[in-house]
Amino acid sequence: MNITNTQPDTRTRTTTDHAPRILIADDQRDIIEALRLLLKPEGFHIETASSPPAVLAAVQSKQFDIVLIDLNYARDTTSGQEGLDLLSQIASVDSTLPVIVMTAWGTVELAVEAMRRGARDFVQKPWDNARLLVTLRTQAELSRALRQTQWLEAENRVLRMDTQVKMIADSPAMKPVLQIIAQIGPSNANVLITGEHGTGKEVIANTLHALSPRSRKSMITVNTGAIPEGIFESELFGHVKGAFTDAKTDRVGRFELADNGTLFLDEIANVPLSQQAKLLRVLETGEMERVGSSMTRRVDVRVISATNANLEEEVSAGRFREDLLFRLNTIEIHLPPLRDRREDIPLLAMHFLRQYTQRYRKNVRGFEPAALQALLSHPWPGNVRELDHAIERAVLMSIGDQIRAADLALRAPRESTSNLDQMSLEDVEAFLIKKALARFGGNISQAAEALGLSRSALYRRLEKYGLS
Ligand SMILES: Nc1ncnc2c1ncn2[C@@H]1O[C@H](COP(=O)(O)OP(=O)(O)OP(=O)(O)O)[C@@H](O)[C@H]1O
Ligand SMILES: [Mg+2]
Repeated sequence: MNITNTQPDTRTRTTTDHAPRILIADDQRDIIEALRLLLKPEGFHIETASSPPAVLAAVQSKQFDIVLIDLNYARDTTSGQEGLDLLSQIASVDSTLPVIVMTAWGTVELAVEAMRRGARDFVQKPWDNARLLVTLRTQAELSRALRQTQWLEAENRVLRMDTQVKMIADSPAMKPVLQIIAQIGPSNANVLITGEHGTGKEVIANTLHALSPRSRKSMITVNTGAIPEGIFESELFGHVKGAFTDAKTDRVGRFELADNGTLFLDEIANVPLSQQAKLLRVLETGEMERVGSSMTRRVDVRVISATNANLEEEVSAGRFREDLLFRLNTIEIHLPPLRDRREDIPLLAMHFLRQYTQRYRKNVRGFEPAALQALLSHPWPGNVRELDHAIERAVLMSIGDQIRAADLALRAPRESTSNLDQMSLEDVEAFLIKKALARFGGNISQAAEALGLSRSALYRRLEKYGLS
């Protein structure tokens, strides 16, 4: 897992360290120093920030128990608007993080507005040391206790979720993924899910949605890679009758369908550059128009997106807008490939086994040791989806009540190379595709380029060979 703007895994939670972690934000150095002098000897672990963007970067990359923010910053030093906006932004990243605001003496209105927007408490400058300490300690302790239970509850909910999609994650490599899902699932933060082909990005999207209050509505999914450029805008934003030749009636687009819910933009790297600005606008302002209409509509949509491409690379290559990337990846969840979480293989295999024995009415109960060994040592270039298909096939091929290694038909890549001359043309094609996918970490664009195919031609083949 990695969080935007930071190195991977820096957002650590220290359960053994009991010093409350506080983030202090003020653009006046002397205030920060005075607070440091007061709080450090009292056992607080202190970090500081001097601008709203720095505060957001900090809360996205590290875990705090409490945030103390000033309401006025350099850009506009009196109205408190910057601080109020910051308060809302912090809440959208992490709604459980308690924020305490500092206001100038006499600005009661502002303090009230801050509390209305979710601040847990306020202190008036100049503050009373003893009172400030009590406020901070109480809030920090409350927050820890609350989050501990919320995390546990949410993690349990993630693992026991009663939805169509069940998510299996037992390996150490998936632990941080589970925690971040539990933590930001209920929030409104936009999430970008990255990971190789077949690692479970859609499963994660479904889980995030199911954990959120938006789950009252179903998640609307758009495979952006599959929509031809010409109808992209109409698919996403809808159109009015007569907008173009084929527009015989009004049509509601996916953004409107997802209003008050979640929109899942799959294969986001494939959005044509010409359409990215339109996407950016609705993400920035919540405003959009149907094609052919001048009426601006407002939508409240949480966007979860997924890709197996490296969007930073796409940005450098000029194929993806950086400002759009920054709107999408408020939180980024990276899914490790299956070969880096082999501990999950037995559980996943049993999960698929149960699913397919039921579907095909077979009486298979488990795996022979050699079969399990084969599953554990296979490189899984197609990740969980490849495992899913391997088990489906094995269930169909099985004769006894145990899956045998041979039922799995897992060919070690090297062995198949030496037998190239005995393979059919299709086998060779499937083999080369698997190899290219493994070589480029599941990145479709790069694999397609190396194979001399277009992305869509590669997609068709992935489907044909059961690799998609
Ligand atoms: N953690 C998991 N627990 C249970 N099933 C999973 C898990 N991860 C993936 N799967 C299953 O594996 C298959 C592939 O998952 P999914 O479609 O979410 O992958 P993806 O990363 O979106 O793939 P692609 O990049 O090809 O779109 C699905 O059948 C899904 O149900
Ligand atoms: Mg997918």
